[in-house]
Amino acid sequence: MAIEGGVGLRQGQGVRRVEWTEELSVGHGGIDEQHRQLIASVNALNAAFTDLAAGDGGDLALARISAAAAAFLASFQSHTAYEELIMHQFFYAHVERHAVHHATYLEALTTLLAGEPVAAAVRVNLPFINSAVFDHIERDDRDFGAHLRSIGLYGRV
Ligand SMILES: [Fe+2]
Ligand SMILES: [Fe+2]
Repeated sequence: MAIEGGVGLRQGQGVRRVEWTEELSVGHGGIDEQHRQLIASVNALNAAFTDLAAGDGGDLALARISAAAAAFLASFQSHTAYEELIMHQFFYAHVERHAVHHATYLEALTTLLAGEPVAAAVRVNLPFINSAVFDHIERDDRDFGAHLRSIGLYGRV
């Protein structure tokens, strides 16, 4: 079954791809490890989409993209819960505001990836999905790294 309708997206087009670098570190080992996993998860979704777009749209490719989308969503959800726990643990002053950002992303991603067929939902929303991961790590979480630095724990926990 071929994907039909929606905005066309060729390999890499319009997608702000995320790759891990040490510059993305927030200075907490557990959060950094989860960010690496989150990036791996969104890149698995990117790869599943690329394979689907390059192939004949067979059932196996469609099943793979559905599984990748579900795994990514689960990964994002468990990460945000863990991160909020750690932020509380280190008395981060902006944890409530940060949690609202998490909830907003999670709601948007859940809604977008619930579209049918999943492959079409992924195709239309892949740029947003990648940006959500990138912005979350590079922009939103950076302030927690600054907080750890301010209390002398950056890179030590
Ligand atoms: Fe995070
Ligand atoms: Fe976060």
